[in-house]
Amino acid sequence: MSESLLVVEGLVKRFPIRAGIFHRQVGEVKAVESVSFDIKSSEIFGLVGESGSGKSTVGKTLLRIYKPTKGTIQFKGRDVTKLTKETLRFFRQQAQMVFQDPKSSLNPRRSIKSTIEESLIVHKVAKNGGARKKIVADRLAMVELSPNYMYKYPSMLSGGQRQRVAIARALALDPSFIVLDEPTSALDVSVQAKVIRLLQRLQAERQMAYLFISHDLSLMRTIASRTAVMYLGRIYELAATEDLFTNPLHPYTKTLISAVPVVSAEERQMKPKKQSYGGEIPSPINPPSGCAFHPRCSLAEQVCAQELPDLAEVLPGHFVRCHIAIDALSAT
Ligand SMILES: Nc1ncnc2c1ncn2[C@@H]1O[C@H](COP(=O)(O)OP(=O)(O)OP(=O)(O)O)[C@@H](O)[C@H]1O
Ligand SMILES: [Mg+2]
Repeated sequence: MSESLLVVEGLVKRFPIRAGIFHRQVGEVKAVESVSFDIKSSEIFGLVGESGSGKSTVGKTLLRIYKPTKGTIQFKGRDVTKLTKETLRFFRQQAQMVFQDPKSSLNPRRSIKSTIEESLIVHKVAKNGGARKKIVADRLAMVELSPNYMYKYPSMLSGGQRQRVAIARALALDPSFIVLDEPTSALDVSVQAKVIRLLQRLQAERQMAYLFISHDLSLMRTIASRTAVMYLGRIYELAATEDLFTNPLHPYTKTLISAVPVVSAEERQMKPKKQSYGGEIPSPINPPSGCAFHPRCSLAEQVCAQELPDLAEVLPGHFVRCHIAIDALSAT
């Protein structure tokens, strides 16, 4: 794998909470709290975590759909947090997003042709209508749809076909990076597998990098080379996906993995015992002190409630944010 395409350092995104007739700020949602990672060129990097852990906010902030509260995002060596509206153009050509639900992300009043060619017009990519039409047909072919789909409207398509159109739209400007935010979770299981295979083929052929967001760990195992586990706005474990499955170190990761079906008898032996944690995910408005997972962790000690552990590299390329796991590994 080559050098980093994207380097995120100390990314913070907080949403103000306003109330009263003067809309005064009364608090904030700490959706993303100091997240750092990098994505290599043509790597599929996975981001998993429960609902509300901040996965979509990371994706949208990376693409400057949201303005970061703090932190830096380097893309091909350029700090995109400093780009002005005008200079954002370069980044917008290179980095695209596919959202979870193609029903709401496609405009029902636009034909598929008009949906895919919109960015070609904004970025003045093709010389004329004929050249644009050729590119639209080409992008439809990439997602295995025939050219006559360009004259249809989203309501005439199935869920899987709509998501293929959303992918074709993301491919319009020939990007090198795509954020895929739960791209198959709104689809039937049989259609999911086909769309996943399509995404894998496109990535291999076009050497793109993906940030692949999902709450489905078994899917991550089939697609991502490295995976980060998020909890309440922070990364608690990051490793090569296979290492995460065969040697999960954080109690939270172990709990997530214990809920995933195994594929072989050998794995059944290695898999952590089915664990459960008490209660709901706490609120990012007022997160727990120290390690945010401590109120739900059966191994928690006093220090866990008092100090936030660092995300430490305890094995080559394997990072964990857990006092207990770090102590256990440094003792061996
Ligand atoms: N635009 C917004 N304004 C205010 N709060 C927001 C906004 N977007 C997200 N949040 C809050 O930030 C936190 C993280 O949300 P986010 O959507 O990033 O989580 P997620 O991990 O993608 O969850 P899911 O798996 O449900 O998609 C949540 O508490 C959410 O309510
Ligand atoms: Mg989300």
